[in-house]
Amino acid sequence: VSFVKHGFRAELLSVPDDPVTGAAPVHHPDGLLVVEDGYVVAFDAWATLADRFADIPIDHFPGKLIVPGFVDAHVHYPQTDRIAAHGEQLLQWLDRHIFPEEQRFASPGHAAEVAAFFLDELLRNGTTSALVFATVEAASVDALFDAALVRDMRVVSGKVLMDHGPEGLSDTVAAGRADSEALIRRWRGRGRLGYAATPRFVLTSSDAQLADAGALVAAHPDVLMHTHLAENAGEVAAVAGRFPDAADYLDVYDRFGLVTDRSVFAHCIHLDDRALGRIGEAGSAAAFCPTSNLFLGSGLFDLDRAIRQGVTVGLGSDVGAGTTFSLLATMGEAYKVGQLRGSSLDPFRALHLATAGGARALGLHDRIGSLAVGQEADFVVLDPGATPLLARRTRGGSMAERLFALQILGDDRAIAHTYLMGRRAHTRQDLT
Ligand code: GUN
Ligand code: ZN
Repeated sequence: VSFVKHGFRAELLSVPDDPVTGAAPVHHPDGLLVVEDGYVVAFDAWATLADRFADIPIDHFPGKLIVPGFVDAHVHYPQTDRIAAHGEQLLQWLDRHIFPEEQRFASPGHAAEVAAFFLDELLRNGTTSALVFATVEAASVDALFDAALVRDMRVVSGKVLMDHGPEGLSDTVAAGRADSEALIRRWRGRGRLGYAATPRFVLTSSDAQLADAGALVAAHPDVLMHTHLAENAGEVAAVAGRFPDAADYLDVYDRFGLVTDRSVFAHCIHLDDRALGRIGEAGSAAAFCPTSNLFLGSGLFDLDRAIRQGVTVGLGSDVGAGTTFSLLATMGEAYKVGQLRGSSLDPFRALHLATAGGARALGLHDRIGSLAVGQEADFVVLDPGATPLLARRTRGGSMAERLFALQILGDDRAIAHTYLMGRRAHTRQDLT
């Protein structure tokens, strides 16, 4: 049986390009999104499409705003239960709060329970795709992929490589490689899943393991590389101490073949123009994680400079260092980081980072991120009247003003519905 076309009528907004340097956003105050078999077949003004689609069933959302599903470009599912761990910066925070928590994922039952909660929480917040850290345990990836498969979510993940991790949370070069290869073989081509070679960061891997991660990426053209880079001053100093003749932190990854057009580097805070220029030239991407960077006191990502250097940028929640799963709230925090740097983040650019920018970072911009015709129909129905204050603040006003209010005041309450491949995957409790 072939599935019938289905229409969704509302205000529509998509930001396929960076609107500051590229094409303008696509905005239809009264628009129609048409989906067939999970794919977008039309995205245009209602007046333009109404005749052509006069015979199809249509859901009408007056007063609501449809945008592409959010793409979380960096998040750790095993840290879900350590959000709001008090009192440390990165390296001590990892030792005191995170490494003990990640050891619990040796239990497959625990991993499955957290993975299910985590993915439901993403959907509650309008996030339809994510690049996700698991733990060093291969079974932690199986748990996440199993849960993503039943939900039909686009999830990219991989087993964390860390042969210099703490006792009980370490692998070896050989076991890390064998587990990674087995996971790639087991999951390749299933559902909407993708694999990322995931060395945790320079400090938790030997030179031999970093080199082997480079070999893993080189051997598999469909596999991404996901790691952390230049997040915290103490971390940067430790890397410089271990590699005194490297140009900078990025150069260490470069030496091991880890800087390619399939690489995603979380944070990228303490980098100069050389390193950012090299990331841009290589076609690698940065994940900007403002709530995490403020929570851990890591520093202020220089978004303007990264974009000037040609870096593809996505937006990450980085839970559990991040303090929210909501990419709406994360856009609001990205704005505040910009303010501290003397640059006001444009609300359309912020939405671009959270959608098409993240999709590009994951190499998925042909499939997701902008609701272009032919793309997968992952989208969010936003409710500008979600709270009394939001309703007041979004009464009238331009699209830019209303979008900015959603970023500053919005969170999971502003997500009325989340759709995956044209199917409803979440509805806010009071609307069911
Ligand atoms: N650097 C290495 N591991 C981590 C992690 O789990 N979280 C963050 N924020 N940075 C890291
Ligand atoms: Zn992280």
